[in-house]
Amino acid sequence: MPKVFWTLSTMSLWILFVLALPSVVDGSPAVTLRPGSESLVTSAHTNSLPETAEDTEVYKEGGAVIEEGLEADAMATGELNPSHYHAQRAAKVVQHYLNTRHSSPYRRFELLRVHKANAEEVAGSGRKYHLEISLQETTSNTTAKCSAEVVFPVGEGQTPPQVQASCGDLSKINTMVQEEALYQQYKMSHAPLTAHNLPDSDGHIDPSMKPFWYLGGVAASFIMLKESNESTLYNMAQVANVTQLETENNQLRFNYHVLVHDLVSQEIGHWKLLVSWSPPEGVKVLQMEELPKCDCEAPPLNAN
Ligand SMILES: *[C@@H]1O[C@H](CO)[C@@H](O)[C@H](O)[C@H]1NC(C)=O
Ligand SMILES: *[C@@H]1O[C@H](CO)[C@@H](O)[C@H](O)[C@H]1NC(C)=O
Ligand SMILES: *[C@@H]1O[C@H](CO)[C@@H](O)[C@H](O)[C@H]1NC(C)=O
Repeated sequence: MPKVFWTLSTMSLWILFVLALPSVVDGSPAVTLRPGSESLVTSAHTNSLPETAEDTEVYKEGGAVIEEGLEADAMATGELNPSHYHAQRAAKVVQHYLNTRHSSPYRRFELLRVHKANAEEVAGSGRKYHLEISLQETTSNTTAKCSAEVVFPVGEGQTPPQVQASCGDLSKINTMVQEEALYQQYKMSHAPLTAHNLPDSDGHIDPSMKPFWYLGGVAASFIMLKESNESTLYNMAQVANVTQLETENNQLRFNYHVLVHDLVSQEIGHWKLLVSWSPPEGVKVLQMEELPKCDCEAPPLNAN
């Protein structure tokens, strides 16, 4: 009898856990990060919560469940638990790095899983992570395995991490036909593209706008790579708007306004980007500018 009881209660706990999970891990961009929605208001509120929240948070991000450790062992070295936040944050940087180099409106990489992670202190330069990870290419739904090294430099102020990655054959993900068709369509277009809220407040993206959501995500990876450090975990939340500009030197050009979410601090950053793209040249971010955190009233000048 005790055994049966144990099994039953374990099972019901497990079911409870599963039932409870969606509200805890609810982090899919379409759901949590919708401007104006209640959940965004909730995230805004968490800004004022004490920092301890970070250590117990569990959320879902790009298909991987990320579980924060309870101990704030900021300096963990040696073999790391692959699901631990140190490993996940470093691996996420590799995702952004690959997106800045190998992506297009039809190719975008998302971190799928960390298989192995190891960290070491390198005197004078910072902390170096050795990672074995899988990434998923979103449009073709193929998986790439990569070995990567990420160094978070020591020192004052934000310095972008340095990344080296070697991945399985990425060229098998061939999107040239779709890219060329999109390029021709928008190069010839007499009505330049404008779009707002990708995804919209229902989490919906019109299929014809998907490539511009991906392109915005790739462009945002340039920001997220530059801004990442060991205490951040960035995710693109939304394209607030995108406007096509005149084609220059055969490059399509777009002004993007994107919302970038740091899942650790729960802050949403607004960025304006000037992005160019053509199939042979790939995606380039020509300008990036972070806008003031919110358009709330300016603080009183005589505050002190
Ligand atoms: C992607 O591929 C995996 C298996 O590799 C499959 O389980 C999943 O359903 C696929 N997803 C989509 C959206 O096609
Ligand atoms: C990491 O970036 C965040 C957000 O920009 C910043 O608040 C924090 O001070 C940075 N941490 C380090 C160690 O540079
Ligand atoms: C883009 O969206 C931002 C944020 O909602 C807004 O401030 C800006 O005016 C919009 N720009 C255009 C061109 O619609």
